[in-house]
This record gives sequence, structure tokens and C-alpha cells, in this order.
Amino acid sequence: MALPLIVEQSVPGRRGYWLPPSDVPAANPAELPPQDQLRASPPSLPEVAEFDVVRHYTTLSQRNFSVDTHFYPLGSCTMKYNPKLNERVAALPGFAQLHPLQPAAQVQGLLALLYELEQLLCAITGMEAFTLQPAAGAQGELTGLKIIAAYHRSKRRKRPTILIPDSAHGTNPASAALSGFTVVQLRSGPDGLIDLKELQAKLSDDVAALMLTNPNTLGLFERQILEVTALLHAHDALVYMDGANMNALLGIARPGEMGVDLLQLNLHKTFSTPHGGGGPGAGPVGVTKALEPFLPVPRIRRVGRRFAWDERGAATIGRVHGFYGNVGVLVRAYAYIRTLGREGLARASRSAIINANYLRVTLREAFPVPFDRPCLHECVLTLKALKAQGLSAWDVAKRLLDYGFYAPTVYFPLIVEEALMIEPTETESKETLDRFVQAMRRIAEEATTDPELVRRAPHRMVVDRLDEVKAAREPNLRWVGSPAQSNARVLP
Ligand SMILES: Cc1ncc(COP(=O)(O)O)c(C=O)c1O
Repeated sequence: MALPLIVEQSVPGRRGYWLPPSDVPAANPAELPPQDQLRASPPSLPEVAEFDVVRHYTTLSQRNFSVDTHFYPLGSCTMKYNPKLNERVAALPGFAQLHPLQPAAQVQGLLALLYELEQLLCAITGMEAFTLQPAAGAQGELTGLKIIAAYHRSKRRKRPTILIPDSAHGTNPASAALSGFTVVQLRSGPDGLIDLKELQAKLSDDVAALMLTNPNTLGLFERQILEVTALLHAHDALVYMDGANMNALLGIARPGEMGVDLLQLNLHKTFSTPHGGGGPGAGPVGVTKALEPFLPVPRIRRVGRRFAWDERGAATIGRVHGFYGNVGVLVRAYAYIRTLGREGLARASRSAIINANYLRVTLREAFPVPFDRPCLHECVLTLKALKAQGLSAWDVAKRLLDYGFYAPTVYFPLIVEEALMIEPTETESKETLDRFVQAMRRIAEEATTDPELVRRAPHRMVVDRLDEVKAAREPNLRWVGSPAQSNARVLP
């Protein structure tokens, strides 16, 4: 117990509990709300003991699947381990206790870190300038599209169209439509890559940019990227790369050297920062020199050995986030990059690629791989053969929970029927991958010997299949006193 110790040290001769006087000044009555606006009686709020709250949330957390507890091969989400060192760095008082309104002179250390992070991202991607403001991958896309629109406006020309391959991430067409562009889809070739003939046929002087995900959502690298960017540039159109899958390219290939004009990175996918539930993430946007004037403000400028915010920028698209983005996430990404270094990052990407290919090759007998050639960070299987047993990819995903694995992404990419998209990431051991393969093979057997078992899965979870659409549209947020009152089916 610390308190008596304080007594003995601070008040010699006195024993027992003693509380030092509070330093909090008494409220100034002039700053309080007017008397007639104050409540007459305390509000009627539910009374719950701290202990009960702690137990409730601890129990819930133990029922959860997370990267820290389970293999989490959610394709397209890159659920890599978040080293605890990153958390310790972000919690340092020099970062965690800053206020966003502190003047630049008082936050020089943080500004130096953010400035350096921009430089590191430039070195990793080959781009020439970065903004760290966007709070998610999709917000990075929106920022990039605003830059594309501003660029063409500055040239005084109308470019209403964005070309997007059908293998792009789903947020790409959504962001383009939200930015006022018309989306024209490019059909992939039989190899799952951009079809140059299709691209040429749809390329015109209406096109503002091509927006491509590379590696694409099949986990395949666009091998003709140099031809693709040259074609776009010949029409004075830009190439936007959804760089959320950079976990496959670190230290191996740099988009800036492929002719990419701008891209976003998902720090929560590639640089091991927490995903959070819908945020806060970070989707920094990198651009070439030609597009730098359009970047959001403020920018961080280095003046000698000091750093300052620069709010100027005649061509800027303006702010896209309060202050300078989710700074805590940026600090974690910086810690991750500095910890791994150039060699470590390249090793992470190479391991992510090897792990995905290991799963592709060991699983393909049980479940076919439609575009079956070496992949990068993820592989996509098709479970359409299960339809004969009346089963679906959804059923397999649910059955995997019984085996103690978070389910891979299902029904995405859209160009693969009954898709199961698996992204193991670099941080999983061969033993874990083998256990996963074993579970998948067992499920393939069960699909033949006992399809009902798979169709009714999961059997070992606290709740079974929830109506997620209903839950999202009609959330039932009432206080539930006991599980019996809840509408989830609870196991005995
Ligand atoms: C390839 C790709 N692009 C864009 C996004 C969207 O990123 P966010 O969810 O951070 O908005 C994701 C998300 O996983 C992604 O995988």
C-alpha cells in the first residue's frame, strides 16, 4: 500500500492515512453555468460496480478473436502482429501527453518524427512527397482523387473518367464515385491481370487516371505495370496506385519507379499499427514532385534544425483531417520502420510472400486456386465445388471458427465465385500454417462425409450465426441484464 509510505516520508512523526491537499483550484462561480440551468436532482443512470464492469469486459475480451490470441488470415486486411514495442513508444509522455493545440515550438520532437516518417515513406515507395493526414486507406484514396481532380483543373481540362480494374479493392470505385468521377471498369485478362487491349480500348482523353490496386486483390503483381503507366502518361492521364498491399513490396519494388504518380499506404496494414474498429487508422498519400503543390495543408517544413507547420499552398486541396492525422498511429509506424530497418522490412515482405504461397500450394488439392501461379501476399481459393453438397464459402468460414481460426475473407474479390481470400502475413510460424491447412483439409472431408455439420457451424462459439445485416440496421442497444434476455443463442 503506497499511501502510508507517503505519510511517513512527507509528514515525519505522523502515522496513519493522510491525503495531501488537492492542487485542483476551486471552480470560479462566474465560469459555472447559470443557476437556473443546473439540474435539481442527479440524473438516473444505471449503477454498476467497477468490479462488475471489469469482469464483463474482461469476459467479453476473452471470447473475442484477435491477432494476439488467434491466427487471423483475413485476406486484404493484413492482420499482422502489432509489436508491443510500438505501444510503449507511442505511450511515452513526450508523445502521449501532447495537446494538438500546442505551438510548434513546444512539439519539436514530434514534428521531427513526423517529418522523418514522411522521408522514410518516400524512401520505401520512391514517391517524392507525403502527407500523413488521411485517417484510413479509403480517406487516402479520396485525398488522392481530389489531387487528381485539382491537377487536371490546373491544366484547364475536363477529365471526368477514372478507369478501375475489376480486381481493384472495393473502396476504389466507391472513392472515385464519391469524388464526382465516372467509373469505367476494366475487365481482367484470363491471367487475373490488367488486359492491355481492354485498357487501350477504354483509354481516351476523358480519362483522368487509372486507379489500380497493386498487387491486386487476387494477390497478383501487375507484371505489365511499366507498359500500363506509359500508356496512361501518353494520354496525359495519371496513375493512382492503391498501395494498401505494400506489405508484399517492401524493400523489393518501389511504385515511384514504376511510373505511379500517387498512392496511399495503409499504415495499419503494412506498418503494423492497430486496425481498430473502423479506425483510427492512417492512410498517408505519396505523390511525385509534379503533384506536391496539391497536397493537403498543413505540411511540415524543416527550417535549419527546427520544424514548423506550413499552412500555405496556392494549389492545395485543403485540409483532410483535424491537426495532422492520427498521430499515435504515426508514431507506432515510425517505431516499426525504425525497428526493422531496410533489411528487416524486406525480410517481412519476403516472408509474407512465402507464407501465402505455402498455403496456396498446400491447400489447392482440397480447394482449387482459380489463378494458380505464384502469388504475393495473399492467395484466393474458390469453393464453388462445395455447391454440389449444398455448402458455401460462408459455411467453411464458420466451421473454421470451431477449429480455433478466425475466418479468411469470403466472397471477395468479386471476380472469383465462392471466394476465400487468405492472407497469412509474415508473422505466422510454419506450425501455425500447418495447423490451419490441417483444419481446412478436415473441413473439406467433412463437407463430403457430414455436410450438415459444416452447414450448421459454428458449434463451439458462444453465439452461432447472427443476422449481421439486421444487427447493423436495427441495433438493439438496450441494457441486457442476463444472457437469457439477449437475442443471441447461448451455448449451454
Ligand atoms: C487494397 C485495399 N485498399 C483499400 C482499403 C481500404 O482501407 P481502409 O479500410 O483503411 O479504409 C483496404 C482495406 O483493407 C485494402 O485492403
